[in-house]
Amino acid sequence: MSWFKIFSRKSKPGHSAASAAPVVSTAPAKAPVAVVPEAALSADPLKGSGLPRIAIITGASRPGSVNKSVAEWVLAQVAGRSDADVELVDIADFNLPLLDEAYPAAYQNYQNAATKAWSAKISEFDGFIFVVHEYNHTAGPVLTNAMSYLNAEFNDKVAGFVSYGSAGGARAVEHLREILSELQVAHVRNQVMFSLFNDFENFSEFKPTEQNAGTLAPMVDQLVSWAKGFATIR
Ligand SMILES: Cc1cc2nc3c(=O)[nH]c(=O)nc-3n(C[C@H](O)[C@H](O)[C@H](O)COP(=O)(O)O)c2cc1C
Repeated sequence: MSWFKIFSRKSKPGHSAASAAPVVSTAPAKAPVAVVPEAALSADPLKGSGLPRIAIITGASRPGSVNKSVAEWVLAQVAGRSDADVELVDIADFNLPLLDEAYPAAYQNYQNAATKAWSAKISEFDGFIFVVHEYNHTAGPVLTNAMSYLNAEFNDKVAGFVSYGSAGGARAVEHLREILSELQVAHVRNQVMFSLFNDFENFSEFKPTEQNAGTLAPMVDQLVSWAKGFATIR
């Protein structure tokens, strides 16, 4: 039968539009099904100290990089916070080669000791502060390479950025936001951007201006708040 014939068929008795009208039930509506069991909601999603665990992740490994000095400054500023446990995680310590795992990260079928150590470390945290430099208008390859190793370890967590460059590392962070979206990491809007011209002496010694240094606390406030929230859905 052609489509035209199917659509142009006349209704038979008992199959009129009126008889096909939906029957309105008089039965009482069922209570909505709870998606998350109540017991899970009342459990402490942050475990341990009850504080969100935040990693400050360096984004470089080259000798002479200023990255670690920026990361250490961030640690010094936030270490005294009473609402988060903060740890500096230096990417250079993991000696990750250019991605050399046989399976995509989603399989979590890691073959190499360096990957397993990196996976275990990232799994410890509820949120991340990435310290980001800008190379060729994007994030440096050491950080993006390290991110490519993992997937589930990042999912449903949160991130914020401290970046630097001639334009404050803004372009690098925009690209990182795309990568983090794919890894299902929520990234806060507030952003800390240091200028190579104003926040570094001779482009090498980190001496942040008061104005830019003052943008760190509001970013971390937002990050910690989101870290607590996202812990409830993992
Ligand atoms: C390969 C390369 C590319 C760079 N491209 C940019 C760039 O696109 N934008 C920028 O602001 N700075 C750029 N820079 C300058 C770096 O931001 C600056 O050297 C900074 O100190 C690098 O960070 P690091 O010390 O952590 O390596 C580039 C540097 C290198 C080595």
